[in-house]
Amino acid sequence: MARASTVHVCSICAHEEPRWHGRCPGCGEWNTLVEEPRGRSAPRHGGVSTAKPIALADVSAPEVPRLATGIGELDRVLGGGIVPGSVVLLGGAPGIGKSTLTNMVLGNLAGAGHRTLYVSGEESTAQVALRAARLPGAALSVPAVAETDLETVVAILERELPEVCVIDSVQTLDARELSSAAGSVGQVREVAARIVGVAKRRSIAVLLVGHVTKDGALAGPRVLEHLVDCVLAFEGERERSYRTLRAIKNRFGSTNEAGVFEMRQGGLVEVLDASARFVKGATRAPGSVVLAAMEGSRPLLVEVQALVSPSDLVPPRRVVNGLDRNRLALVLAVLARHGGVALGGSDVFVNVVGGVRVDEPGADLAVALAVASASRGVTLGPPGASTPIAAFGELGLTGELRWVAHPERRIAEARRFGLDPVLAPRGTEATEVATLRAALDVAFATAPRVAAVAAA
Ligand code: TYD
Ligand code: MG
Repeated sequence: MARASTVHVCSICAHEEPRWHGRCPGCGEWNTLVEEPRGRSAPRHGGVSTAKPIALADVSAPEVPRLATGIGELDRVLGGGIVPGSVVLLGGAPGIGKSTLTNMVLGNLAGAGHRTLYVSGEESTAQVALRAARLPGAALSVPAVAETDLETVVAILERELPEVCVIDSVQTLDARELSSAAGSVGQVREVAARIVGVAKRRSIAVLLVGHVTKDGALAGPRVLEHLVDCVLAFEGERERSYRTLRAIKNRFGSTNEAGVFEMRQGGLVEVLDASARFVKGATRAPGSVVLAAMEGSRPLLVEVQALVSPSDLVPPRRVVNGLDRNRLALVLAVLARHGGVALGGSDVFVNVVGGVRVDEPGADLAVALAVASASRGVTLGPPGASTPIAAFGELGLTGELRWVAHPERRIAEARRFGLDPVLAPRGTEATEVATLRAALDVAFATAPRVAAVAAA
């Protein structure tokens, strides 16, 4: 007999069924039934509320000091540290460094005299301790417990009352009253709701770790975004050392901030001048352009590299690292239609060096120039120049170049490293280009003319 304590509720029409169905009998949508504890979604009747509305100006909102994590980049992304009693969801692909980062945070806070707790549902305490031993500071002084049962975890939190705790991860905790497996949407939602409940009731700040699949889908965590106060995305290529930390939602700060980290032997290290590193490493070869990107409100120079080679495959390969695949498809289409660079018979590889992910339309022009330069086998920029050219701007479908946010900061960052020219959309103080065609003309104007190496 099915356990009567749960129901399956359609996430679209709220139709309830005692058992799971692939297709909702209520609205006919597929895969929308999610298991929930019985009674959760039932409408509440009666009960005249005694709560009286108050003018917002009269609401007392005491300033609670934030908890500084001791990791400057993280504190900045959070808007000045962890707010007591807040719930922060930290999403990222497996192996990106979520456990490392959260363990370092607790270590620093424990070292500063705060009560901390590390709840691991993924690893044994021995494994957690092995990692902590590699980390700097007081990481080893953090109390840890390995537990996957939600009830037990909530009971431990109620008993220990830490100021800050880490739950690693939301997908591994198991709400017993739900029959679905840990990590399923219904489970993850229930786990998060219970954890948020105890966090608010007891004023425990929680860093909730959530796994995200490789293609960026917050499978599971996505359904949690509205429950938590803050959603942070930890991104990068696992095989490389650089990682970016971005706020996607933040009730207590801006979502404009981002931090850059490097994974080293002794844990994550903040990268304070990431541009300097990437520019120094830029190759200045055919297919290389420096992109003046924005990481939150900070400019960041990264090298975009492209390789174009003749292909027998139909369709040819499009391999991209650190950028959105669909965005590359768009750039290639615009290049073909408005730039005279047709690559239908070529494999195209594009890579943001260092494993950084750049998710902004401002990357278009740099990608287009890198691909065009690779396709023609020509190094961009004046001959003999020691610095690479830089670019930014969004490509429109008609081949025009569109304005993107913070042009002056991007240009200032590129000038700081002597990059010349800086190709940018109109309305900026750089070498202004109105269209992709104009950008290609400027970029190739001073470059030595070489016959196309790839089938155009
Ligand atoms: P981890 O934090 O376990 O990733 P996640 O919790 O997101 O799955 O660590 C990821 C990788 O980082 C792991 O493969 C080992 C590596 N690592 C270092 O390179 N240096 C270190 O000091 C530590 C602790 C881990
Ligand atoms: Mg982990």
